Amino acid sequence: MTKILMVCLGNICRSPVAEGVMQQLIESKKIKATVDSAGTSNYHIGEAPDPRSRANAKQNGVDISKLRGRQFGVADFDDFDFIYVMDSSNYENVIKLTRNEHDKKKVSLLLNKLFPGQDMSVPDPYYGGENGFQQVFDLCKNACEKIVLELE
Ligand code: 4NP
Repeated sequence: MTKILMVCLGNICRSPVAEGVMQQLIESKKIKATVDSAGTSNYHIGEAPDPRSRANAKQNGVDISKLRGRQFGVADFDDFDFIYVMDSSNYENVIKLTRNEHDKKKVSLLLNKLFPGQDMSVPDPYYGGENGFQQVFDLCKNACEKIVLELE
């Protein structure tokens, strides 16, 4: 069983979308994997995803309304095999918590799955316009499809 964790800053905009998209792919393709998400900050612990993320995901056929925010912690290095972060700031925050090389090897930018070696970020849509959320959805979907191809 491959255990995947999606990470962003608040765990209310980007990583819940990545989780929801991946969960749907795991179920539809019957992949032996689990997925969860977390935020590096404590800003939105226990909260449902941002209403804009929820609405956009729903429009795209993915229900993320039941997810709740939680904060990333050191134990996640033990609980997960792959930790995909949305942007370079998330990467720095997670890397700071690593205890050893084994932890470090688990952490990578989600978009390096789609654009290897380019270190691209999923743009934070929190302060942006509505189309930021569709961009987040498309990037997460394409990256998750790539991950699933490798797991199949
Ligand atoms: P996320 O977006 O990291 O994709 O969940 C954000 C959500 C909340 C905040 C920043 C980014 N915030 O500053 O509260």
